[in-house]
Amino acid sequence: MMRPVALLAVALCATSSLAFLTPAPRPVRSRCGVRARILHMSGVERNPNFGKLMGGYLFPEIARRRSAFLEANPEAKIISLGIGDTTQPIPPHILSGLVHGASKLGTPPGYSGYGPDQGVKDLREKIASTLYGNRIDPDDVFVSDGAKCDIGRLQVMFGKNVVTAVQDPSYPVYVDTAVIMGQTGLINEQSRQFDGIVYMPCNPGNDFFPDLAALPQRPDVIYFCSPNNPTGVAATRPQLEALVAYAREQGSVIVFDAAYAPFIRDPSLPKSIFEIEGALECAIEVNSFSKYAGFTGVRLGWTVVPKQLKFRDGSSMHADFNRVMSTTFNGASNIVQDGGLAILDKEGLAEIQILISYYLANAAKLRATVEAMGYKAYGGDNGPYVYVDLGGKSSWDVFSEILEKAQIVTTPGAGFGPGGEGFLRLSAFASKENVDEACERLQKVMVKGPVPWMAERPGRASPSSRGNRVFGQSVAGPNGI
Ligand SMILES: Cc1ncc(COP(=O)(O)O)c(C=O)c1O
Repeated sequence: MMRPVALLAVALCATSSLAFLTPAPRPVRSRCGVRARILHMSGVERNPNFGKLMGGYLFPEIARRRSAFLEANPEAKIISLGIGDTTQPIPPHILSGLVHGASKLGTPPGYSGYGPDQGVKDLREKIASTLYGNRIDPDDVFVSDGAKCDIGRLQVMFGKNVVTAVQDPSYPVYVDTAVIMGQTGLINEQSRQFDGIVYMPCNPGNDFFPDLAALPQRPDVIYFCSPNNPTGVAATRPQLEALVAYAREQGSVIVFDAAYAPFIRDPSLPKSIFEIEGALECAIEVNSFSKYAGFTGVRLGWTVVPKQLKFRDGSSMHADFNRVMSTTFNGASNIVQDGGLAILDKEGLAEIQILISYYLANAAKLRATVEAMGYKAYGGDNGPYVYVDLGGKSSWDVFSEILEKAQIVTTPGAGFGPGGEGFLRLSAFASKENVDEACERLQKVMVKGPVPWMAERPGRASPSSRGNRVFGQSVAGPNGI
């Protein structure tokens, strides 16, 4: 039987962004006389959860505003303190690991093909010994192509029937993957929160650590990032002890995102959840070489799923995650894993300290600059982000003001959840020269008090307030960095 083919006439005056869908557009005339095209539609039903992600996309939207600004001001010299992407080249010893990994593939003894799916044994062992002081079993390490990808795979393992909790504000990927999995209802227009997600407010008022006793509902899976993106603040040992105690008491599982852990300089602050007693029975840790070895494009991370972790029915989370990895992933690139081994050599570890110091010096300068201007700022000392309290101003308004007046791209806190409204994230992953220049420019324009840009042009709607509502929540999209 022939499958019915759905046809859609799209007026040319309507969005042209769908045009790429049409294999052979056939011009027709609509009732209003406008030429239209016929699009071929498949009979496949859309996963309705994607329709809930109406929050939009933070970084593409930032890029759109940046392009619009550049179009209007072609000679503008934009500095990006927005995206959390590294800028400094990969240091020589680590690079030699990548080169070695590539060259050996050209020799019969050095050649290797698929797998192992969980990563090469040497790297798993080196991660367990060098980064975790053998607190974890190398068999519990799953080497991967990055922390973001692993967060998605963990969501596949947990499925749709779990209640997810997130820090508010947080890295938007936790919420968006929960939505895509079908764990949530729709977004609440008032609160800008998804029904079904437990939001844990983290702000200066509670020292960026949630009041766990006040959570409205018992969460199954708690995503907790330290040092946090966007606040740049790392949790203290007593805070993480409280988190582990809570998870154990409630039968919850913590997914601890330690992507920025090596930026921690205060020795009293834990770099891994497994430094906390009892975590092996209630925590998973996702981790990454992206941010401090220049591997954002190279792609290498890992997830630790201890064998002690059990689901309610007693079955093993480790076994299920292993199943997800071996079903949907064929192992991290063998070339890149050689790069990972080089990072964990004595020379590689020294090289990453230099990179970390470089970015932290940028962060210190950014923070000192905004503080000298009278703003309260957080983070930047144990993490690569500076989180600026805008004293009640809208984060998109200030984003626009800074873009227009200083030609600097920042990230509005509202993009990280409703709890981020009123704050701005400054990323330290720029070059020192750009940070120096950005600080000079900021001092000139980021005056405390009413937004000068708004005051200067009364009656003009801020670009940020136009169509801004989409940014209330969960806005990661493909670039949730
Ligand atoms: C908190 C957090 N986790 C994970 C990632 C992604 O890491 P990866 O590059 O390993 O996918 C990011 C990237 O910005 C992040 O901010």
